[in-house]
Amino acid sequence: MLESPCHLLYEGKAKKIYATSNPQHYIVDYKDAASAFNGLKKATIEGKGALNNRISNYLMQYLQTQGISTHFLQELSPTQTRVKKLTMFALEVIVRNLAAGSIAKRLGLQEGLPFETPVLEFCYKNDALGDPLINDDHALALKLASHAELQTLRALALQINDLLGAYFKSKGVILVDFKLEFGKDAQGQIVLGDEVSPDTCRFWDATTRQKLDKDRFREDLGGLCQAYETILQKVSH
Ligand code: TMP
Repeated sequence: MLESPCHLLYEGKAKKIYATSNPQHYIVDYKDAASAFNGLKKATIEGKGALNNRISNYLMQYLQTQGISTHFLQELSPTQTRVKKLTMFALEVIVRNLAAGSIAKRLGLQEGLPFETPVLEFCYKNDALGDPLINDDHALALKLASHAELQTLRALALQINDLLGAYFKSKGVILVDFKLEFGKDAQGQIVLGDEVSPDTCRFWDATTRQKLDKDRFREDLGGLCQAYETILQKVSH
C-alpha cells in the first residue's frame, strides 16, 4: 500500500514536505507558488507545481540512469513525489555555463557571456541572510560540510552539469546555470535532493535564445507555464 502524507514537517516557498509512515521516506508536494528575490516578489501560478514535479522527476530519473544518486523514489500524483529522507547540507551549489542573473550583476558581465570552464559557487542556505555567496573556507568555518564533502559536492555538481548540459543540448536547449541541493542518506552517502526544474535552472532555447525558466516570472515576461510545458515536452520524449 502506498504511504500517504502524515504530518507537515516543513513548508517552503515552493514545496511542502510531509513525513510518512516510513521513517526513511518523505513526500514532497509542489505548490503553485512562485517567488523571487528572496521572497520579495510572489505570485500564484496555477499548474506550476505539477509541471515542476514532473520535470524534476524526469531529470532525477535520467541522472539516476547515469549513476548519480538522487532522492527520487516514486511519483505519487501530479504534484506529489515520494523521496528518500536526507539530512540536507545548508548549502546551495550553483553551476554556471553562461553569465546570467546574480553573477552578471555582481561582476558586471553581459548576460549570455559564455564561461570557458563552468563557474561553481556555494551559497549558505539562510533566508534571514538572503542565502549569501560563500567560499570553501566560510563553509568550513560554519561547519556546513567537511573539506572532503565539499570536494564531493563540487565533483558531483560538475558531473551533473556535464550530463544535463549534453542532455539539454541534444534537445535544443542551452543549460545556462542551475542550483543543486544535496544531503546525506541513512548510510551517509551524499545524494542529490530538492528539485531540478525551471525554477532552479536557467534554460534558453538554443535557436531563439527565448528564456524557458523562472526568469519569465522574475523579469515579468509572461508565458511561464507555456515555457515550463516546453521543457516538460522535451524531457518526457
Ligand atoms: P542567480 O543568478 O540568481 O544566483 O541564480 C543562479 C541559478 O540558481 C539560477 O538557475 C536560479 C537558481 N537559484 C535557485 O534555484 N534558488 C535561489 O534561491 C537562487 C538565488 C537561485
